[in-house]
Amino acid sequence: MPDGFASREERAAFIAGLPKAELHLHIEGSLEPELMFELAQRNQVAIPFASVEDVRAAYAFSNLQDFLDIYYQGMGVLQTEQDFYDLTAAYCARANADNVRHIEIFFDPQGHTARGVAFETVITGITRALDDAEARYAMTSKLILCFLRHLSEAEAEATLDEALPFLGRIAGVGLDSSELGHPPAKFERVFARAHALGLKLVAHAGEEGPPEYVREALDLLKVDRIDHGNRSLEDPALVARLATSGMTLTVCPLSNLKLCVIDDVAAHPLKTMLDAGLRATVNSDDPSYFGGYVNANYQAVADALDLSRDDLVTLARNSFTGSFLSDAEKAHHLAAIDAYA
Ligand code: ADE
Ligand code: ZN
Repeated sequence: MPDGFASREERAAFIAGLPKAELHLHIEGSLEPELMFELAQRNQVAIPFASVEDVRAAYAFSNLQDFLDIYYQGMGVLQTEQDFYDLTAAYCARANADNVRHIEIFFDPQGHTARGVAFETVITGITRALDDAEARYAMTSKLILCFLRHLSEAEAEATLDEALPFLGRIAGVGLDSSELGHPPAKFERVFARAHALGLKLVAHAGEEGPPEYVREALDLLKVDRIDHGNRSLEDPALVARLATSGMTLTVCPLSNLKLCVIDDVAAHPLKTMLDAGLRATVNSDDPSYFGGYVNANYQAVADALDLSRDDLVTLARNSFTGSFLSDAEKAHHLAAIDAYA
């Protein structure tokens, strides 16, 4: 029997009702095959799939790059402001069903501007849906602009220039896409500029890349959070540093499984992270591609690692503590978790 519960079913119900924040979600990675088909038709965009089943069958990846190739192709159906609204509204409805009370979501503007879609079209559609989600579900949100690390720092600088008129709606910048061969050091100057503009800083590091990339994200980019961070565990001094500094890791279990970062959820390092005192959180990354939204991610690790009630409460608390909400907002959500638990 799981520690603190009468049964697995009771633990599943506890997860479902637990108030939580999601801190690692690529909005383009929430594009479900059904919506992909609808938008392809609406916009007369050709896609290389005959059916929704065909799309799902193509979602078998052996590494990050395998996935990214399909992910960039999939986002080609997103063309108009309404498309970005529909995409974001669908994710917010799904997150609300998982009792997610606050979201900090990534978007990849370079994946759109490179196809001739204006930055303004993208951000206006996304933020209109976020505003509606707040009115409808009382779900709060922050938006994080990610730079694609396989492109140059000059291209990231140009993207930050395009973002300047919209800084009121952007909480931070991040770094995603192909990690190996594109170390954080490549983006040191643009991150310093984003910091000077008052933006929060996050970066994917240690997903496929070595612990050295996590160190660079801390020392050169001066990030406020590490996205993934799995490979930090290979370096005990780094683990001690992350624990002592209270650095948040936005961990994505089903993503790690689908991208072959782990062979089996039972081999996932999440429990090891918690036991080492790391501020780990559970997130869905690209839920349409990886087979589950946030509760499915909690459920997978809870079952495979036999997580206790205390572990689950810690994960939910970490999701708010590690967010970019104000101290008063964090206190409000932490009190709600305590009342629930
Ligand atoms: N872009 C979307 N999902 C990603 C991931 N898991 N890692 C790096 N870049 C991404
Ligand atoms: Zn990610």
